[in-house]
Amino acid sequence: MGTLWGGRFTKQTDAVVAEFTNSIHFDHVLAKYDCLASLAHIAVLKKTKLLTISEHRQLEGGLNRILKSIDAGTFMPDFQFEDIHSYIQHLLEKDKRVGKAALKLHTCRSRNDQVTLDTKIYCLDQILGIERQLTILIQNLTELADKNAHIVMPGFTHLQHAIPVALFDQLNAYCEMFRRDEVRLMNIFESIRLYMGAGAVAGTMIPSANYQQKLSVDFHKDIEPPICPVDTVSDRDFVLDMLYAEAMIGQHLSRMAEDLILWATKEFDFIDIDDAFCTGSSLMPNKKNPDVLEMVRGYAGRLYGNLTSVFIMMKGLPLSYNRDMQLDKEPLFESTDLILKELAVVAALVKNIKFKESSIQDQLEDECLYATDIADHLVKNGVAFKDAHRIVGELIKYKIDQNVELRALSEAELHRIHPSLSQDIINRVINPQRSISEKKSIKRGK
Ligand code: ARG
Repeated sequence: MGTLWGGRFTKQTDAVVAEFTNSIHFDHVLAKYDCLASLAHIAVLKKTKLLTISEHRQLEGGLNRILKSIDAGTFMPDFQFEDIHSYIQHLLEKDKRVGKAALKLHTCRSRNDQVTLDTKIYCLDQILGIERQLTILIQNLTELADKNAHIVMPGFTHLQHAIPVALFDQLNAYCEMFRRDEVRLMNIFESIRLYMGAGAVAGTMIPSANYQQKLSVDFHKDIEPPICPVDTVSDRDFVLDMLYAEAMIGQHLSRMAEDLILWATKEFDFIDIDDAFCTGSSLMPNKKNPDVLEMVRGYAGRLYGNLTSVFIMMKGLPLSYNRDMQLDKEPLFESTDLILKELAVVAALVKNIKFKESSIQDQLEDECLYATDIADHLVKNGVAFKDAHRIVGELIKYKIDQNVELRALSEAELHRIHPSLSQDIINRVINPQRSISEKKSIKRGK
C-alpha cells in the first residue's frame, strides 16, 4: 500500500513489519482532526505561495469531501495502509477533482508534527464532549439531591455510622468531585498550544508568521508557529494530562459506584436501583445485581493503567520524536471512550435511584449517632469540650453495658453519670432534623 516514504528503499516492507508497525486500525479515530489540521496546513502553503489558488481550492475540496464522509459515517478506513495520514493522502491522490495538487499536501510537513497537532485537536474536541457529559451527570445528581433534600441519613467515617448527615450533602460531595473534574479539564483545554511548522524536528522553510491562523472549527484556539520545534514533536504532556484527568474522573465514578453498591445491599438498605440498570443471576432467581456500578468500579483500574502505561513509555525517551510515542494512542482513545460511556450510563442510573426513607429513618433511631450533638449541647452550657467528650463517652458506655435506650434513662441515672445530663437534654438532642439544623458551618447557596 502507498506509503509517505520509500524512495531510498530497495525492498518492500516485510509483511510482519507492516503488521507490527501499522497504526491505522486505531489511529483512524484521528481522521477528522487530520483533515482539519490539513486544511490549516494548506492555508499556510497557499499564503507562502507553495500552492496556487486553484491547487489550494482542489485540496480544500478533497479534504472537505473526506470530512463530509466522516460526518455522514460513510468513511471506511482501509486497514492495509500504514496510518491515517497515509490513507488520507491516498484518498486525495485518488480523487480526480484534486488531481496532481494532492502530491503537494505534504510540503514542509512531517508526520511527527502532524500527529502531534491531530492528537491535540482530538483532545480539545473530547474535552468538550466529556465536559458536556459531566454537566449532565452533575445536573442529574443535583436534581436527585434537591428532590430528597428533606432526608437525613447516617453519615459515615471509617465505614462506621458516625453522625447524622444531610443526604443533600452526601450527594453534593460527588457533584463537588465532578466540578473539580470540569475545572481540571478546562485547565487542560486552556494549556494546549496548537503548534504547526515543527517539521520533523528542526522547523520548516516557511516563515513563522504564515503559520499564525485560526483553526477551522470553533475551538477558540489559534494555530501558531512553534516556539521550539524540538519540543513540539517531543511533547506528549497533553496526552498524560488527559489520561490523568480521565483517571481522576474514573476514580470519582468508582467511589460513587462503591457507595451506591453498598447502599443497595440489604445490610445498608438505603436505595433501590431501577431494574433497568441492574442485571440478574442465571441461577438464583431472587438476585438483582448492580453490575453496571461494579464495572464502573472495576474500570478505574483500566484508566489508571492507561495513564501508567504512557508514563512508562515516555520515561527516558531521547529527543525528539520516537516511534514509541505511537503507543500513546490506544490508551488515550480507550480512556476517553470509557469515560464517555461511564458518564452516560451513570448519569442515567442516578436519575432513577429511589431512597428508602423508612429504612433510613429506622437507622437514625440509633442513639449513638447523637453523641457528638449531646457533647456540643454540654459545651453550649459551659462544659469544656474535653470534659463533655468524656461525659458523653461514659454515657454511651453505660448504654452499651446496660443495653438500654438513653431516652429510657431516669433523671437519677443521668445525674449519676454526670450532673449536667438531663432527660430534657437527651430528648431534645436525639433528633435527626435538629442535628442537621445545628450544623451552621456549611456555606449554603452559590
Ligand atoms: N503513527 C505515528 C504516531 O502515531 C505517526 C508518526 C510517524 N512518524 C514517523 N517518523 N515514523 O506517532
